[in-house]
This record gives sequence, structure tokens and C-alpha cells, in this order.
Amino acid sequence: MEQLLSQARTVIDRCRSLAACTEEDGFTTRTFLSAPMREVHARLGSWMEQVGMTVSIDAAGNLRGCYCAADARAARLFLGSHLDTVPRAGAFDGVLGVMLAVALVDLLGGRRLKFPIEVIGFSEEEGVRFGVPYIGSRALVGAVDRELLERRDVNGLRVTDVLEAFGLDPSRIGEAQLAGNAIGYLEFHIEQGPVLEYLDLPLGVVDTIVGQSRLDIVFDGSANHAGTTPMHLRRDALAGAAEWIGVVEGKGREVSGLVATVGCLDVEPGADNVIVGRARASLDVRHADDAIRREAVSSLLGCADQIAARRGLSVSSRKRLDQNAVAMDPSLTNTLEQAAARAGYPVHRITSGAGHDAMIVARRIPAAMLFLRSPGGISHHPDESVRTDDVAAALATGLRFLEEMEVLYG
Ligand code: HGY
Ligand code: MN
Ligand code: MN
Repeated sequence: MEQLLSQARTVIDRCRSLAACTEEDGFTTRTFLSAPMREVHARLGSWMEQVGMTVSIDAAGNLRGCYCAADARAARLFLGSHLDTVPRAGAFDGVLGVMLAVALVDLLGGRRLKFPIEVIGFSEEEGVRFGVPYIGSRALVGAVDRELLERRDVNGLRVTDVLEAFGLDPSRIGEAQLAGNAIGYLEFHIEQGPVLEYLDLPLGVVDTIVGQSRLDIVFDGSANHAGTTPMHLRRDALAGAAEWIGVVEGKGREVSGLVATVGCLDVEPGADNVIVGRARASLDVRHADDAIRREAVSSLLGCADQIAARRGLSVSSRKRLDQNAVAMDPSLTNTLEQAAARAGYPVHRITSGAGHDAMIVARRIPAAMLFLRSPGGISHHPDESVRTDDVAAALATGLRFLEEMEVLYG
């Protein structure tokens, strides 16, 4: 166990060191192929090479380390997670899954398995820079289309421009796709919620990742003078949006198992003494049942229409993501569960309220996820953390999982 605890401390130290690769001094903010991602690739790539991997970067900016097997053509096992972050993130969301995978390979001590292991650090999962998540894993399953490549960030740069600026060739993004030979995909990730801590469990085996909808809602009214415009003559877009945001929260509280969030709000023109003419709100709605999620979105859009009509505003919406809930592969998940049990850890099936690259990779190959407890249930926040003993538990489980996979696929 001491070797695992030592590896766990290295994993945590490395996650914290990569957290310093940021666009925003004093915080961890690392979006799609921004400059600090180069430093992450350099450091992570060298750690991968130190444990015997061959390292490459694919045309979508995914960092890929292959721990080859005696038979290079054998179907491979993929491990991985994402390297980008939300703004002012913690040090473990995404990166932990990649560092745990590299540590697992290190623990093999140079022993080659009967199948290759490929560790992937996905270039983008959060959807922060271009408003659409999972760019890296979408490339893996051939789901990056022209519309996505043409999306622009707040500076007017397209995905294509950012890929080229990173030294990549967008026309070759198809080459990032999975070849036919894959055994499956396992993603280690922090739970990002309070359940495992509440149950006092180190690990959770994911059964389903809930579906999620992401939209933009724009309320348009009339900008006007804040001092001379009587209240009854206003068409205040922000007041309308604010009323609607209260309805969003109420819907989340009303429907069991639903979460509904407005995380972004932009106003124009944005001055103390000007009534807001345009307010743009984001909407993030999630539920394990896709029909309930879609009904909630439809209901919230209907409420926006009613509020706008009553206030003399206009309202429009644009869907950015409609991702169905995804069940993890039953067989691979059972193998993972057996591995945790054989490693001596209690096993708990858990549904993921957070989206993950596994839900995209699952379109093409069997996917499974192992959660680690999130102390305080905190994530998407600088206070996000992970326990050393839980990281050691994940490593012990991962080693057993590789043993089980060698029995199955050796
Ligand atoms: O938003 C999510 O569910 C994840 O953190 N990308
Ligand atoms: Mn996240
Ligand atoms: Mn994540």
C-alpha cells in the first residue's frame, strides 16, 4: 500500500503543478488550446515518455500516449479525461483522470500487457471557449462537423483558427478518430458532488451520465435613460431576464432529479444609468430521464415567451447542446466493480450529474467510469480537492481492472 500512497501523492502533486498552467494569474483557467495548454502538453508528455509511452498530439489537440503491447495491432484499452478547465477551476476536474492513468502505467513497472493502453488528455470538454463541449472526444468519435469548426469565441476566432494557431491541421481532424481496434474506455474522475462523502465511500462506479441541454436565451427590450424613463414606460430586458431566472430556479426545485442553472448573464449596453436593452442568459438543464429534461426546457422557453409578452420584450433562444443521458457499458462496468471489490473497496453505483468525455466515447466503444470522493462535494471551484487514500484506492482498483482485462482479452 505504501507504493500506492506514494504514487497517489505524486498524482496529486502533478495535478496541482499543472493547475499553475493558466490564462488567469492566481486562478486555474485553461480553455481550449489556450497558450498554457502547451505547457501542460510538455510536462504531461514527458511524464508519459518516462513510463514508456510514445506521445503524440492529434489534429483536435488531444494529447495521446500509447503504452504499446507485444502485438502493436492488438485492440487497445483507452484511459483518459480532459485537460481543459472551467474558469477559476480546481486542480483535479479532468486532469486527475489523465494523471491516474499515467500512474497506473508507471505501476506496471515496464511490464507490457497483452493489449496496448492509450492514455488520452482531451483538448476540450467543458465547452467554455466555444460554447459547445466535448470537442476533443467528439473528434475521437468522428463527430466534429463544419458547423463546430466554424464556431467563434468572444474574440471572433474560429475553432479552425485556434487549431491552426496551435500548429495543428484542421483538415486532418478526421485522423483523430478511433481506429477499429478498441477494447473499451475507462475514465477516472472526481465525483464533483456530495454523495460519496455523505456515504463515507472512497469510490463510486458510474451507472449513467445524465443528459444535458445547453441554450442561449436572449431578451430584447429598449435601452433608455435610467433617470428620465418612468417605470411603467420601460422595456427593461434585464428585469425580464431576472424574472425568468427566478422561474428557472423554481423549475429545478419543483421537478425531482432536475437541475436547471443560469451560469452566464451578459447585458447591453451595461452602464449604471442606462436601462438594459438586451440581456443574454445561458441555460443548463439536466436530468437522468431525457423526456423530463426536454419537457423542462420546453416549459422554461414557454415561460420566457410569457414574461417577454407581458413586459413588451422580445425573446429568442438558440440550442447549443442536446445530449441524451448515456448508460455506461454494463459488462465493462461489472468488470470495474469486481476490480474495486477485489481491491478491497466497498462498491457503490452512482449516477453522474456532471457530463464527461465518457458519454461521447461511449458512442463508439464500451465506456466505464470510476468516481473518487469529492471532499466537501466541491468542484468547479479552487477549493476542489481529492484525498490521497482515495487516489491510492483508485490506483489499486485500476491495477485489478487491468488484471481482469488481461484475463478477458489476453
Ligand atoms: O459541466 C459538466 O457537467 C462538466 O463539468 N463538463
Ligand atoms: Mn468540469
Ligand atoms: Mn470533468
